[in-house]
Amino acid sequence: MIPLSLYVHIPWCVQKCPYCDFNSHTQKGAIPEDDYIDALLDDLDTDLAAYPSIVTRPLHSIFIGGGTPSLMSPAQIERLLAGINARLTPGNNMEVTMEANPGTVEADKFIGYRQAGVTRISIGVQSFSADKLTRLGRIHGPGEAERAAHLAHQARLTSFNLDLMHGLPDQSEQEALSDLEQAIALKPPHISWYQLTIEPNTQFYF
Ligand SMILES: C[S@@+](CC[C@H](N)C(=O)[O-])C[C@H]1O[C@@H](n2cnc3c(N)ncnc32)[C@H](O)[C@@H]1O
Ligand code: SF4
Repeated sequence: MIPLSLYVHIPWCVQKCPYCDFNSHTQKGAIPEDDYIDALLDDLDTDLAAYPSIVTRPLHSIFIGGGTPSLMSPAQIERLLAGINARLTPGNNMEVTMEANPGTVEADKFIGYRQAGVTRISIGVQSFSADKLTRLGRIHGPGEAERAAHLAHQARLTSFNLDLMHGLPDQSEQEALSDLEQAIALKPPHISWYQLTIEPNTQFYF
């Protein structure tokens, strides 16, 4: 039986970053969390009606990406995961990852996500340089990124990840390596170190 992995997309962000070409949009007013979770589960029902054999395949991992999934409340993430688990067959030790922007996290939220069934959080740090974060249009400074990593440790998640980018505007090799060293010092179980890609149709491209 081939295991199944599920990707769930949350498309809102506090503000759109000028380098980002993901399907992500600046939120205008309150996010319609309730309606969106209903729509996601309806969408899953439609897929399952078309591909009923999926139901019996063991669900190996769920990745809740964005956008900024950490804008959603733990209660809504719990409703989403309960809805998925009721429709599919969760496997043993299923990994449930959720992306978080350091500008949108609080201690209670990480614990709430863990209680909702999230096992791993991926934190969008990008850089520990205040200047580079400003140039990237990020809504947080280096202090909030470090704080988010400490909160992830304290929440006793199974794992967590720090996202970094290198090749930033006017960034020297030494500055990029310094970001990496600062990330390693926070002892995350995993680091993603992406080269900044200049994507068509982003502000950085024009
Ligand atoms: C979809 S984003 C979600 C994370 C969260 N929204 C945040 O930014 O904090 C996932 C990761 O993709 C990376 N990323 C986004 N745009 C990129 C680009 N143009 N080039 C390289 N990496 C990029 C960033 O490291 C980001 O944390
Ligand atoms: S917060 Fe993340 S998903 Fe949203 S615009 Fe910035 S990089 Fe893209």
